[in-house]
Amino acid sequence: MKPVVEPSPTGDSPMERTLRQRVRQQEILAELGVLALQGTPFVQLLDHTARLTAEGLEAEFCKVLEYLPAERRLLVRAGVGWGEGIVGVASVGADLESPAGYALQTGKPVISNHLENEERFRTPELLVRFGIRRAMNVILQGDGSPYGVLEVDSRAEGEFSAHDIAFLQGAANLLGMAIERQRYEAKLKSALDRHQMLLMEISHRVKNSLQLVASMLHLQAKAVGDPVLTGHLGEASNRVSAVARAYDRLAVDADVERIEIGGYLREVCKDFDDAVAHCEIKVEALERAYLATTAAIPLALIVSELVTNAAKYGYPKGTGGPIWVSVRRPDSGQLSISVRDEGVGLPADFDPATSKGLGMRIVTALARQLGATLRQQPLARGTEFSLVLPIEADVKS
Ligand SMILES: Nc1ncnc2c1ncn2[C@@H]1O[C@H](COP(=O)(O)OP(=O)(O)O)[C@@H](O)[C@H]1O
Ligand SMILES: [Mg+2]
Repeated sequence: MKPVVEPSPTGDSPMERTLRQRVRQQEILAELGVLALQGTPFVQLLDHTARLTAEGLEAEFCKVLEYLPAERRLLVRAGVGWGEGIVGVASVGADLESPAGYALQTGKPVISNHLENEERFRTPELLVRFGIRRAMNVILQGDGSPYGVLEVDSRAEGEFSAHDIAFLQGAANLLGMAIERQRYEAKLKSALDRHQMLLMEISHRVKNSLQLVASMLHLQAKAVGDPVLTGHLGEASNRVSAVARAYDRLAVDADVERIEIGGYLREVCKDFDDAVAHCEIKVEALERAYLATTAAIPLALIVSELVTNAAKYGYPKGTGGPIWVSVRRPDSGQLSISVRDEGVGLPADFDPATSKGLGMRIVTALARQLGATLRQQPLARGTEFSLVLPIEADVKS
């Protein structure tokens, strides 16, 4: 007796074939899900989706259509089966009379199993050109406005089923979510870029304004006609300029709440002017230590005063030598920043607390502001000032 159903060339019954196709569709959806979650680059993701969707539906053609609102058309952004000159070039109408347009505008999936007899829609020219017999269209939608349409086409006899459209919609949903995520990431990135640009801009302005104050003081120093006043105004100008530089170095670091002190002081120490040119400044920071950003500028100013003194008084005219700036962590709750020279040493009667010099007064005041103690070590040769300050648990490394 003749069997009711002809066996396929592989020997499977149509039921078995359908079952195998459904299993493959499940696998493909899982694969697409992984690709979407992995953050696959956009173009690649579209290509994979088109290829795998066509495979899952055993169709020769598939395309990802992107909606171009200005032209009210759907551009072929990716696809398989179309050969040269279609992807990135060809488009179909996005009006309700085109199947893809209908899917886009209503959000409803569209199956056309007999395009030649289709009465609901006109058959787009592209499909006619390729002799497409049947097509399915589903919307590609994330959370926001739709991206476009996913369409699968075939020249072969046969019909797409409700199961097939469920698979197609599944693939489109995964792609839609991936597109949405990428759009969102792009927006976040551009917001972050803008934020950083603004921050840089503001920093530049602050620095420039401070530099302007420094230059005005400098001009005034030259114009005042009294050597003592000239000296004072010159120093004031240098200090304002030190604030500007300390501030500028701070803005380079991306971390807003804390700074890594070794790195920061290394930057600050690059900025010293001619007054310390006869000395070699060595910044040592064996351990990474962090401080709240608000402490950065006072710290930079203290170091700047101490280094300037070491150069000016430790190594007087005609001499020179090394100056060490060291960052240490004597214990977990403490941080020590010291400036040491191997110069002539402090005057015998020197007392930082009662020193009349403005530099030491500034250092003492800023140290107090930081909650730090200033220590002065007696050395066989030279001078060492250490600033010891507590570091809070939340700004530790
Ligand atoms: N590293 C050092 N070596 C030798 N003397 C120093 C050193 N640091 C500070 N002094 C002494 O401390 C004095 C006060 O310094 P400072 O307060 O900065 O005043 P100034 O405005 O003169 O720089 C200086 O005049 C100098 O005698
Ligand atoms: Mg000084």
